[in-house]
Amino acid sequence: MLRTLPPSGNPIHAGEILDCFTTPAAQGAQTLREKIRTSLDIKHAYLFATGRGAMTVTLSALAKGERTGKRRTVVMPSYTCYSVAASILKAGLDILVCDIEPRTADYDWDQISTINFDETLAIVSSNLYGIPNQLSRLEELAQENGVSMVDDAAQCLGATCDNRPVGTFGDAGILSFDKGKVVTSINGGVAVTADTDLGERLAGELQNVPRTSAKSRVLDLIKLQAYFLLLRPSLYWIPKSLPFLGLGRTQYDEDFPLERYFDSLAPLAVAQLGRLQALNEERREKASLYVELLRESKGLATIEPAAGCEPVYLRFPIRVSDQSARGKILESCSRLGCSISYPSAIPDVNELQGRISVHNNACEGGRTLARQILTLPTHSSVDSSDIHSICRRIIQAMSA
Ligand SMILES: Cc1ncc(COP(=O)(O)O)c(C=O)c1O
Repeated sequence: MLRTLPPSGNPIHAGEILDCFTTPAAQGAQTLREKIRTSLDIKHAYLFATGRGAMTVTLSALAKGERTGKRRTVVMPSYTCYSVAASILKAGLDILVCDIEPRTADYDWDQISTINFDETLAIVSSNLYGIPNQLSRLEELAQENGVSMVDDAAQCLGATCDNRPVGTFGDAGILSFDKGKVVTSINGGVAVTADTDLGERLAGELQNVPRTSAKSRVLDLIKLQAYFLLLRPSLYWIPKSLPFLGLGRTQYDEDFPLERYFDSLAPLAVAQLGRLQALNEERREKASLYVELLRESKGLATIEPAAGCEPVYLRFPIRVSDQSARGKILESCSRLGCSISYPSAIPDVNELQGRISVHNNACEGGRTLARQILTLPTHSSVDSSDIHSICRRIIQAMSA
């Protein structure tokens, strides 16, 4: 069958799967927490079954620590993973959407600077595709307004901004070890913080979170075997051709189980964290090759990293304003791991209608990015000839 690339993913080695069955679970989880703390140079790390769970519990802990009880709103970008909105609502908090700039995928600073933060509990960053936002600036804005900041590093583990690891800005950070992330253990989420009070509250909240159910554990182990076997380019056509798996489909889901991390999976994340720098260096090299090969192509734009940031490029995003060219690229490169990312801006997600507020009613930036974005693969199964082939097809579609 034809070589077929996933849009993202991180190959798992057979020895790492064996480690999941031979390492005592509690010891594996302890090693993982330690590894996260040293990688990010941060004091506290708490493990959850998902990044959504980590985000929900972190926001709940922040809300409980807010003395007046008046601050119930979380500011989030108009274009990011739908899971962020789901986590905020699951925590029982309100959403205020602030528009983004398509050029950077970061907040639109003309918009965010005009928010009245009196009722705001926290601002969430997005750092999409491994490209950091202007995090020092966001942290400053949060501090000036007496609100918390949650640095969402779900897609950005290993990147830095002003020489600080993404995920360590603001009051708390979120990591995800889901299947398409920089580091994967099939499922997994982490809440990190340098703040001892918040750390204690998070530890307290975690005590009330149930352990992963037997059903989740069995499912995770099945997914692990399937991921190990089928992520390779010679076999990925199999899961890609099974519509019920819904690969590449983005759905809003607020019904996710809030559970603790399945500790037996920790050796997978520990092993990948051990090779994080090499993995990310490889992604950056692939991103540079895309930049070089697509430089001359008219009508294409990329997402500009903020000054002082070193991205990790979980995927390489391009922006295509011509809708017909975008459709052609998607069609000719879908087998090569090209994908549309999130299909709509947050205010246009059906399940969120009537449940969120939009600052200044502005979301054109988010809508524009949703219309234009395509992401190209940078993971380790993508080789230089794949990248040349993807770029050739893009250039062809753009000049047709
Ligand atoms: C930006 C962002 N935040 C949060 C999450 C939630 O992580 P998880 O899938 O582990 O729940 C994701 C997951 O895709 C994400 O991309």
